[in-house]
Amino acid sequence: MASKLSPALFRSSARTLRQFHKPQWRSFRTTACARSSDTYHVHRDTPDNNPSIPFKFTAQNEKLIKEILSRYPSQYKKAAVMPLLDLGQRQHGFTSISVMNEVARILEMPPMRVYEVATFYTMFNRTPVGRFHVQCCTTTPCQLRDSDSVMRAISDHLGIHAGETTPDGLFTFTEVECLGACANAPMVQINDDYYEDLTYDSTVSLLKALQQAAEATGMSGGAAGLGGDSGKDVGEAADRGVGGAGEKLVGEQGRGYEAQGVKMPTPGPLSGRKTCEPAAGLTSLTSPMWGNEMLRKDGAL
Ligand code: FES
Repeated sequence: MASKLSPALFRSSARTLRQFHKPQWRSFRTTACARSSDTYHVHRDTPDNNPSIPFKFTAQNEKLIKEILSRYPSQYKKAAVMPLLDLGQRQHGFTSISVMNEVARILEMPPMRVYEVATFYTMFNRTPVGRFHVQCCTTTPCQLRDSDSVMRAISDHLGIHAGETTPDGLFTFTEVECLGACANAPMVQINDDYYEDLTYDSTVSLLKALQQAAEATGMSGGAAGLGGDSGKDVGEAADRGVGGAGEKLVGEQGRGYEAQGVKMPTPGPLSGRKTCEPAAGLTSLTSPMWGNEMLRKDGAL
């Protein structure tokens, strides 16, 4: 019996030894903890985010709300929860518990229903963010085209990691999943704008331009939050952000912004290509476009 068992015992002990020598694990990279938008799907009262802080929409935004609500049948006005939360975030700077409660009051829906929406969509920032919310996509297409360099450029230049805000409240850096611009990977979203086809160097130049624009407009050192101080309306908030009224287009075909004399890259691909045309140049449809001018004069095709 012992002689029959010994080969099996020998095999299993050899297998055990092999496993011991070759550990069955491999290293992997974990996503950085995002502390701004979606860290915890719970609310905890903080001095700048608790239900006792009053929030009211401005008169200008009240008008917008009326216009938004007119798009829905009155019995379905709760369908406007997302545009109203977005409006609240733009006014207040982030989607605080008071913003959510006010939206619930206006739409006559249980606050919990509003919380459910705000905690599901990561676009609703439930904690304050900087004037420039830099969201770097690291999903597969961006990762394959070196979003690691973009992440590194942001960290190196701003001195913060994903999930953090610069001490002056100017930049918040968040790592996000696909933002739907994979054809122009790697890319970042800064406030409402996409900057695409990025490299380490173009990312640093972009951040420098934003810093210079912020200095020129007296933005730096301000309160955290896209819209900034509560009580200001959307128009004022937009004036301080990229593409606001304080900026004008310069150069050929609108390439490049000028904000208070500071030249800034136009949103879109920073590689020079137009939208999402092939990065290596056109390979098809290279002949002149078939248009009306190519039709026979007698009307026959
Ligand atoms: S993977 Fe980055 S935009 Fe889609």
